[in-house]
Amino acid sequence: MELLARGSESYIYLDRERGLVVKDRVRRMYMEESLDSRLRKTRTTTEYNILRDLYGKLRVPRVFQRHEYSFEMEYIEGTNPQLDREMARFIGKSLRDLHELGIIHYDLSIYNILYNGDELYLIDFGLSFRSRKIEDIANDILVAISQALDYEDVVLESYGITDAVKNRIQDIRSRARYAGV
Ligand SMILES: Nc1ncnc2c1ncn2[C@@H]1O[C@H](COP(=O)(O)OP(=O)(O)O)[C@@H](O)[C@H]1O
Ligand SMILES: [Mg+2]
Repeated sequence: MELLARGSESYIYLDRERGLVVKDRVRRMYMEESLDSRLRKTRTTTEYNILRDLYGKLRVPRVFQRHEYSFEMEYIEGTNPQLDREMARFIGKSLRDLHELGIIHYDLSIYNILYNGDELYLIDFGLSFRSRKIEDIANDILVAISQALDYEDVVLESYGITDAVKNRIQDIRSRARYAGV
């Protein structure tokens, strides 16, 4: 298998014959071993389960075998799309769809979208979790906006933002200012 990509916490290997990739969470030497092991296992399980549940509902890679620190998924032969208005709309709509399904992505940007020349796929649910709390929803939107600054209005509009969520985003922003971050 060839190394396809190397993130800060995981390596992605490509198995061309089988048309799949393996996402392997690697040992982080700066972390205490048992804590690191526990986190790698729970992150792997959570990401695998969320992808499995989303498959058939939203366009995500299909998952196959799961191991302790790794899992196999469908290889999407594609690249990260350019950020433009259309992509900002896709990001907004994707967030809304995820939130309707009770999933917080927590790292949605063009770097976690793959375009195969035909369709757009959402990937990297490594920080994702299940929640329907307005605070988590607002933070998820803030994460996406912070990666698409020029298109904040487009993301919010295509999301179909409600006043309640908009107000919560304002709250979080003013809390951050007050805390000086
Ligand atoms: N199913 C897939 N098919 C093709 N490439 C993938 C797939 N999953 C991940 N990749 C590639 O590997 C990179 C890192 O994967 P990702 O899940 O985003 O891990 P990380 O948590 O390290 O960011 C992606 O940006 C993408 O280029
Ligand atoms: Mg990623």
